[in-house]
Amino acid sequence: MSVLTATAPMDLEQRHGAGGYPSRGITLTHGRGARVEDSTGRTYVDCVAGHGAACLGHAHPAWTRALTRQGDLLVSCPTSFGSEVRGRLLERLAEVTGFERFFLCNSGTEAVEAAIKYARSATGRSRIVAAKRGFHGRTLGALSATWEPRYRRPFEPLIPGVAHIPFGDLEAAAQALDSEVAALIVEPIQGEGGVRVPDDDYLPGLRNLCDAHGILWVVDEVQTGFGRAGSWLAHHHWLDGSPGQATDGPDLAALGKGIAGGFPMGALAIRRGLPPFAAGSHGSTFGGNPLACAVSSATLDTLEQEDLITRSRELGEWALDRLRQDLTGQTAVREIRGMGLMIGVELRQRSGRLLSRLAEDGILALSAGPTVARLLPPLVIDEGDWRWVIERVVEHIRGLDAP
Ligand SMILES: Cc1ncc(COP(=O)(O)O)c(C=O)c1O
Repeated sequence: MSVLTATAPMDLEQRHGAGGYPSRGITLTHGRGARVEDSTGRTYVDCVAGHGAACLGHAHPAWTRALTRQGDLLVSCPTSFGSEVRGRLLERLAEVTGFERFFLCNSGTEAVEAAIKYARSATGRSRIVAAKRGFHGRTLGALSATWEPRYRRPFEPLIPGVAHIPFGDLEAAAQALDSEVAALIVEPIQGEGGVRVPDDDYLPGLRNLCDAHGILWVVDEVQTGFGRAGSWLAHHHWLDGSPGQATDGPDLAALGKGIAGGFPMGALAIRRGLPPFAAGSHGSTFGGNPLACAVSSATLDTLEQEDLITRSRELGEWALDRLRQDLTGQTAVREIRGMGLMIGVELRQRSGRLLSRLAEDGILALSAGPTVARLLPPLVIDEGDWRWVIERVVEHIRGLDAP
């Protein structure tokens, strides 16, 4: 046994990791479906799911089969060579998202970077408008569109010409958008910023405003995509998503997280009628890697075959109804929000105490800003487990009100 293996994994991470993440004090070892186990043998229902990425949960047989099969065939194939598995994935992505072309990359933040570069080069303009409380990633371009000052300040100056407007406010958008703006970037439902669902007229209104000024409209569907919000992409709740020919949808979409069920992957989706990137103007060593493509195809197929998007919508509606009913009049609660299996409970206090009590009970959940507790379970979560999670959330919130 090496000297290193004698040290607890969490200590090794503390010693050699670069930091940046507060530790939850739990070391996860394995999982199946929506259940995970820690190094002490304790089981949890996983409502973190890799920050929403593991839409099929852990060790789904179709996902694992796709990964091992492809690993046995071909592990690398740069985009300058053809790849059957990549071609098939691109076709499937066009079918389910309504967009026509896709730049494949490795994370959500890279998809947003690609969107910014695309918008700048396609419009010849440089200004970007994004939303307050919006989150778009941590690389410098995406961070410039991200709002949270705590994330931005240590790294300033960021890219110039980025303005933030209140989310959900069409008047503010009308004032900020003009013919010098290259792109408007918004999440269709804000995730990290507190699980905020806009009014029904918001996204169609943004489409009209962008049309009026020749602005490219980018939806950041990194968190909301691939069934998380109860439709293939969340904006499909409000706008056309017909395969390959959406007429009134966004121009570009940043995709990530659930696109490959937890395998690192992102994509920039480009609407029909817009040109591809000019040759040589953008690229990525690992983007479109055959392993990621095989796993992503298996993820999309499984979402469809197991009807998991309907399931996300129905389990989400049930949970929202239940939480709203059972928590009526509870002074600890400010608001309950969500769509599909993306649920946020905004408290009148910091969410840390609730999250710790849930973890003690065997439920892993996460925050979305200081006062919002967020549930992002795998879409395959067992109905009994989901009912139990919601019952425990209700019980613990009632406990927060107790004297
Ligand atoms: C809406 C949104 N955009 C972008 C990102 C960045 O994705 P990644 O962490 O894969 O770079 C995230 C991550 O949480 C996100 O929620």
